[in-house]
Parts: sequence; structure tokens; C-alpha cells
Amino acid sequence: MPFSAIKISFISLGLFFMLLAFRGPGDEVKFVVPEGWPKPVYDFSGNPVTTTGFQLGRHLFYDPLLSRDTTISCAGCHLQATGFAHVDHQLSHGIYGRIGRRNAPAIMNMAWSRSFMWDGGVNHLDMQPLSPITSPDEMDETMEHVVRKLNESAKYRSLFRAAFGDSIATGQKTLLALSQFVLMLNSFNSRYDKYMRNEAGGQLTEQELRGLQIFRKNCASCHTEPLFTNRDFANNGLPVDTALMDTGRMKITGDSRDSLRFKVPTLRNIQFTAPYMHDGRFKKLLEVVNHYADGLQKSPTLDARLQSPMVLSHEDKIDLVAFLLTLTDRDFLFDTRFGFPRE
Ligand code: HEC
Ligand code: HEC
Repeated sequence: MPFSAIKISFISLGLFFMLLAFRGPGDEVKFVVPEGWPKPVYDFSGNPVTTTGFQLGRHLFYDPLLSRDTTISCAGCHLQATGFAHVDHQLSHGIYGRIGRRNAPAIMNMAWSRSFMWDGGVNHLDMQPLSPITSPDEMDETMEHVVRKLNESAKYRSLFRAAFGDSIATGQKTLLALSQFVLMLNSFNSRYDKYMRNEAGGQLTEQELRGLQIFRKNCASCHTEPLFTNRDFANNGLPVDTALMDTGRMKITGDSRDSLRFKVPTLRNIQFTAPYMHDGRFKKLLEVVNHYADGLQKSPTLDARLQSPMVLSHEDKIDLVAFLLTLTDRDFLFDTRFGFPRE
């Protein structure tokens, strides 16, 4: 066979495989478990992440079509540059300018989460979007209507076909695709991580190292490394906001021992996820540290780990905050794969 014929047959073979890849559901994306991290909780066997499923999820996440009046998307409350939290907003803002009852939390490393929402009211990631979509204060829409709108869109018919091999949108496929996107929002490349892995760019200053020691002594029993959460609920002594009267975990379990217990949030990218706590009451990290040092409210459910007061000098507090800032992961915050889908 002459050389050019071999070349052409290789090209056509290549084209054939490219077409195959194009027609079927996309390639599976390898889910990376960083070294030393626990096993993810999410069962990927029921919803393997694929390039096309992730892209569909990304389009859905950024699309206000999911709300009744097409004004608000998931990203409207969860912005990438702030770790997918809602900067400047104490309580979440939904459609028609309605104010919700809680602060929009940062979204990252969700595959390791055992429960969702500040009170753990949702126990599976795939079910989580139903809450904002149907909440009257958030997107005020029905899943049935979302699915109808998706099926009317040529763009979504082709995205669904690419992701699932069938152009018909269903509620289930919509939820699975949103999970695929959310599951890939993982942060593990902060300076702290590089320090722990002994990598280039992983230097911590003397001050940050002192802060790390103070953190391990006072905070890590709840904000446990490497996720910076023990994935449990706790009452961390916040005085109750009597206007909101949010009892947290007790709302779900009805058990008074769960009163004022909230999900222990991760502290990764904490530099940008302000305002802090379930009601966004603190704007600055130093205010948070002052709360733990001097502001704890005694109550029957105050966590045992916070019963004896923390002794933190002014310098300790500054060092602690310096350490918290090493948890910023710019690779994650600026990863273009997670941004608004322009293509
Ligand atoms: C109007 C603002 C708003 C919109 C829109 C919104 N969220 Fe949220 N999100 C919140 C708030 C507030 C919470 C916490 C709710 C609670 O604890 O009751 C939350 C919680 C979450 C959580 C749980 C985080 C955790 O650590 O438990 C995930 C995941 C999430 N949202 C993803 C989404 C997705 C996906 C969409 C789009 C379908 C969406 N959100 C739309 C405000 C919003
Ligand atoms: C007994 C468990 C516990 C300990 C110990 C603890 N925390 Fe927390 N932390 C929580 C809980 C629970 C919340 C969420 C409370 C809420 O919103 O109602 C929280 C919230 C936070 C937040 C806000 C995060 C966000 O996204 O809004 C920061 C920052 C924080 N803690 C830092 C610290 C620091 C620094 C220490 C040590 C000085 C510490 N925590 C010790 C349980 C704890």
C-alpha cells in the first residue's frame, strides 16, 4: 500500500472513532481522590461523570431557565469567584427579590458530604437541586415545568443527546447532570495542601505555622483536615437570631438535643466565602475568631468541645486568621472549566 493510502486509512479510522465518541455518551471523567483523603460518599457507579454529562450540568447550573421567571440560576446564588458562596449577601436572594432564611453556603468537595443544607435536611446530592428549584423564595418553579422548557430548547436537546444518548430531557437526567457538575467542584490545591504534600509553592511562614498549631488545638476537632469539616452537626455557641428563630438540625429530627446544631462547614477558600455562618452574621474572619474566643453563648446544646473557654491572645487570633488564608485555592476559584459556559 502506498504511504499516502496508509495515511488516508489512518485518518478515516481516526474520523470513525471521533464520530463514535461524538455520538455516544462522552468519555468518563476520572474522579481524583487527593492523596490522604477519605473515600468519597457519593456512589459514582449510579452516575459516572462524563465530559458531556458534566457540560450539560454546567449549562443547567448557569441557566436562569430553571427559575419561574427566568431570572435566577444556581450560579446567581453560588458564584465561582467566592467558592460558589454568595458574596455580600447575608441571606440568600431569590426571584422577585425575595429574601431567604439562610446564607448560601460555599459548594466544594460535595462528593465527601454525607448530608446537605445547614440542617442536613437533604441526604442525597442528586435530590438537593429540587429544594432551590421548588422553593418559593428561591427559584419558585416546578420540575415538570423545567423539563418542559428544556425539551422545547434545541440547545438542550443536543446537550441531552450528547450526555445520555437520547435527546429527551427528564427530571432524573436533569438532576444527574447537575450532580455531575457539582461533584467536579473540588478544591485541594491551596498553599496549605502544597505544604502538606511537600510541593513547590507550599511554603508557610512562621506566622502561618503558628496559626496552624492554634487551629489544630482549638478548631480541628470540628473543622477536621483535610476536608476542614468532620461532616457532623454542632452548636458552636452563636446567640440565636430571634427574628429568624432557626433551630437548625432540630427542624429535621424534631429532637431537642439537636436544637441550634448546624452542619459544620468546610473552611477551604474561607477568605472569599463571607459573610459567615448559616445566617451570614459575620463579615470578617477576625469577628468569627472573636466569637470563639469571647462570644460563645451557653445553652444546653452548646458543643462539649467549646465548654471550656479558648485562651487566644490578640497575636494568636491574627496568626490563626493568617493560617486560614492559606486555604485559598486559586486553581479552583479561577478554573475555567467551572465558569459560565461560553461555547
Ligand atoms: C436563591 C439562592 C439560591 C439558589 C438559586 C440556589 N441555591 Fe443552593 N443554596 C442556597 C442556600 C441558602 C443554601 C442553604 C439552604 C439551607 O441550609 O436551608 C443552599 C445550599 C446548597 C447546597 C448544599 C451545600 C452544603 O454544603 O450542604 C448545594 C449543593 C447547592 N445549594 C447547590 C445548588 C444548585 C445545584 C442550585 C441550582 C439548581 C442552587 N443551589 C440554587 C441558595 C441558593
Ligand atoms: C464544636 C465544633 C466547632 C469548633 C470547635 C469550631 N467550629 Fe467553626 N463552625 C462550627 C459550626 C457548627 C459552624 C456553623 C455554625 C452556624 O452557621 O450556625 C462553624 C462555622 C465556622 C465558620 C464560618 C464558615 C462559613 O462558611 O460560614 C468559620 C470561619 C469557623 N467556624 C472557624 C472556626 C475556627 C477558626 C475555630 C477555632 C477557633 C472553630 N471554627 C471551631 C463548629 C465548630
